[in-house]
Amino acid sequence: MQHTVDTSPYYRPGGASAPVSVAPMLDKTDRDYRFLARLFSPHALLYTEMVSPKAILLGNREVLLACNPVERPLALQLGGDDAGELKAAIRVAADYGYDEINLNVGCPSEKVQQGSFGACLMARPEHVAHLVAEMRSATALPVTVKHRIGIDGLESYEDLARFVETVAGAGPSKLTVHARIAILGGLSPKQNRSIPPLRYDDVYRLKRDFPHEIVEINGGVTQLSQIRRHLLEVDAVMIGRAAYDTPQLLAEAEREFFDPAFVAPSRGEIVERMIPYIVERQAAGRPPHTVFRHMLGLFARQPGSRIWKRSLSGGIARDADVPALVRRALARVPREVLERPVTAEPAESMNTVGAGA
Ligand SMILES: Cc1cc2nc3c(=O)[nH]c(=O)nc-3n(C[C@H](O)[C@H](O)[C@H](O)COP(=O)(O)O)c2cc1C
Repeated sequence: MQHTVDTSPYYRPGGASAPVSVAPMLDKTDRDYRFLARLFSPHALLYTEMVSPKAILLGNREVLLACNPVERPLALQLGGDDAGELKAAIRVAADYGYDEINLNVGCPSEKVQQGSFGACLMARPEHVAHLVAEMRSATALPVTVKHRIGIDGLESYEDLARFVETVAGAGPSKLTVHARIAILGGLSPKQNRSIPPLRYDDVYRLKRDFPHEIVEINGGVTQLSQIRRHLLEVDAVMIGRAAYDTPQLLAEAEREFFDPAFVAPSRGEIVERMIPYIVERQAAGRPPHTVFRHMLGLFARQPGSRIWKRSLSGGIARDADVPALVRRALARVPREVLERPVTAEPAESMNTVGAGA
């Protein structure tokens, strides 16, 4: 069945997008993490990990694309530079219920550079515009671009503005701008997420200079107060590492930006809601540890965290009795920790990401 965006009240094509989203992150934002993230925020826009169009065309589509309807609104991120492959992949993905298709123009990894896509496409704005136009011709969904403020050699605001002016001509529904340049020679992807300084002012200026574009800012956001500040200047804020490491930030954002009546769940409730999900995934052949890995940090910096982690890591059998295993682990966490709403300790007080550098 083909799904269209109009079923998603928080994503209007050509209009304002969800004010808060969770960034695409390889090896992190898989469907199991996204199910968990939804319990913290029913409405934030979620992104998949980057998926290669070739993999979609040649690989296991169910593994790469299948998702749970509760993950919506959900954007599929593609990483590629071949218009034909991107279009074909988008057509395949049409049956899986995504709300947006995003093009990765920000990944600096060597492998991605060898494939001539990701951040190195910032040097080819005409080609990115061509890709966006072609992608739009293959879908009625919004097509968006996630890019950097620059790459080595193209580091000025003027270079960024030239890139955006060209790409905007192809009609992307949103530009998500990671507010640091990517250094393609010499830094690893991890270093490229912390060493180049954040230049939020360039993203703010971009919104002022291109007022008709939907501009989302990304990079170093770990606190609600930062989201508030950015939203005075741009349309939306994308959160990466902090959404994974301190997901209570998502619950805070849910209440402030989507639903003032949202009642934040407790960690105990979140775990209870994960149990039937893990059992269902297990029945579909997914080993429990692949879901548990996203839950290990759930009690970070709380009493009982170590024992919780230890109980759910290590050699867990594929056919383990998940409800019994999880409830045994829960029994070792103090009751007040289990029952307290996740927003009781604001993410602000638990910053571990150190992404503001
Ligand atoms: C483990 C990891 C994997 C990532 N994978 C992707 C990816 O697949 N696609 C992408 O566009 N960005 C990827 N990123 C970058 C994030 O989307 C985001 O731009 C970056 O982490 C900065 O945001 P943050 O400071 O809020 O984490 C990844 C980041 C991390 C930490």
